[in-house]
Amino acid sequence: MEIQLWREILDPYALAVDELVVKFSHIIEEYRNVSAYSPIELVTGRVKTISSILEKSQKKNIPLDNIEEEIDDIAGIRIICQFVEDIYKVVDIIRQRSDMIIKREQNYIEDRKKSGYRSYHLTVYYDVETLKGTRRLQVEIQIRTLAMNFWATIEHSLQYKYKQNMPEHIRERLTSAAEAILILDREMSVVRDEIMDAQNSFTIKANIVADILTNIQNLYKVANKQDVIKIQDEFFRIYQIGDREELEKFSKDLDLISQRYRAQSLR
Ligand code: GTP
Ligand code: MG
Repeated sequence: MEIQLWREILDPYALAVDELVVKFSHIIEEYRNVSAYSPIELVTGRVKTISSILEKSQKKNIPLDNIEEEIDDIAGIRIICQFVEDIYKVVDIIRQRSDMIIKREQNYIEDRKKSGYRSYHLTVYYDVETLKGTRRLQVEIQIRTLAMNFWATIEHSLQYKYKQNMPEHIRERLTSAAEAILILDREMSVVRDEIMDAQNSFTIKANIVADILTNIQNLYKVANKQDVIKIQDEFFRIYQIGDREELEKFSKDLDLISQRYRAQSLR
């Protein structure tokens, strides 16, 4: 097939990947905006290369006319989470959405693969708009923890290096590494609540500080410089003590001061 024709086939998949990465990234953003913990840590996406499409179609005896139906991972999204629990939350989020229809689910977390591979796979239908109209495409979404991703990435590169001939002792090492990763994920789940509390209070504090800094910056434009410097010194003093409630109170007071200045400058 000519390169030009491949471009025509693959371009809508590139659009789907771009759109989905934006959409999932915005979910992270939505959580951050309300200072909440996001079940999604990171999103990446890729379109399968022509050579690996050809390789897969040859291996599975798929005629070129059927590749779009039969190869369901031409568009691939990978969602990385911190904890196993987050994976199921993400699956729920996807289930609720109207722009993705789940065609197939493979839970390799419950049913780990023989290699030791763990992840949650969804194949979804996703519509993109092209000059030729609406196209319904298949997209593979892989959802996994940071630890699962670490293992899969290394195992994948070793698979690539050795092709079919991975030495037995390396295979064994990978299997025991998979076991270690499983235990790591379990350990992390146990401390999850504690970690989440700490992260939440960290984000809340970071947001308060950002608010305060914006306010101080704006005050420089309207208020007496000496006054602003005093406010700034007071902020540094409270910041160094590190007490969140003090910072919150300071931020509220500063809001009032800013409002007063704004009212004055409107007069
Ligand atoms: P095909 O997509 O047709 O191969 O069948 P399938 O959808 O049943 O495949 P499967 O769910 O087994 O794998 C889909 C994708 O998951 C692969 O392309 C890999 O990205 C990933 N994957 C599956 N098994 C492994 C594994 O053992 N190691 C690693 N590193 N990745 C895997
Ligand atoms: Mg597949």
